[in-house]
Amino acid sequence: MRVEDFKIQWFPGHMTKAKRMMEAQIKLVDVVVEMLDARIPRSSTNPMLQNVLGAKPKVIALNKIDMADTAKTELWLEKLKHSGLPVCKIDCATGKGVKQLISAIQLAAKPVIDKWLKKGVRNRPVRVMIVGIPNVGKSTLINRLVGKNKVMAADKPGVTRGQQWVTIAKGLELLDTPGVLWPKFEDPSVGFALAATGAIKEDVFDRQDAVQLLLDFLLQKYPEALASKYAVTVEEGETAQSVMAKIATARGCLKAGGMLDLDKVDQLVLRDFRSGRLGRFTVDEP
Ligand code: G4P
Repeated sequence: MRVEDFKIQWFPGHMTKAKRMMEAQIKLVDVVVEMLDARIPRSSTNPMLQNVLGAKPKVIALNKIDMADTAKTELWLEKLKHSGLPVCKIDCATGKGVKQLISAIQLAAKPVIDKWLKKGVRNRPVRVMIVGIPNVGKSTLINRLVGKNKVMAADKPGVTRGQQWVTIAKGLELLDTPGVLWPKFEDPSVGFALAATGAIKEDVFDRQDAVQLLLDFLLQKYPEALASKYAVTVEEGETAQSVMAKIATARGCLKAGGMLDLDKVDQLVLRDFRSGRLGRFTVDEP
């Protein structure tokens, strides 16, 4: 199994619908926050967002930094900053970095406010929405930002029923429903990154293939993580198959008759990787 052969079953129909919704929602806002998963900043971005955005200001929120490789997160930050984008690292699970994100949104909104002022428009709130692929942490961030302000929310025209603008800071209103983006499924390495981190459901890819690629990745980049988590020895030139057998033995993953239960190892490794129990990893190289 090579990463080039990894396949995701995906449905272009969903993409068309998501794009239409996104275009309608983006018209309503002044600043967009694109949320990326710090473990997969390249794979969790949306290839078409920029076209839909045009010149609208965008801030990048690199989320789940608690699960990513710290050194690589810094490299990604540098890389993104270098390309001229405002970027903040956040951890929505604890709220770390959320204040800085608000400041970055306010800064990105400054040209918009200045333009309004020139036209004599004062005290108009800047409208913000959060966009990102599924499972990146959009709802968690919205809940954090909205928090106690929810009671102040009021229905305003121009938004689909059920959606509300909520004041999250002085002069900033957030759309309480996130924009859902589709990732670039066509690229097999992106598909693998999404499968490994749990951005996509298991019914659209082959778990065995994903775990084999994941073990190849860990053996190459983070062999000590496997060794310490499962108390196995990882030799020079170790293969995914051989390390699987070692994990099965160490963890007592056996079928009736004493055969190794490799399905169980697949489930175990994927669960441990996604939950962070195996360690902190960045799959996409900066
Ligand atoms: P979404 O709206 O973009 O689809 O994502 P959502 O907020 O539902 O978050 C998806 C999962 O990611 C949630 O886990 C959430 O708690 C977790 N999450 C969000 N931000 C962070 C973060 O900064 N760090 C960590 N470690 N986790 C974060 P969940 O409810 O347990 O869902 P699941 O794990 O069962 O998918």
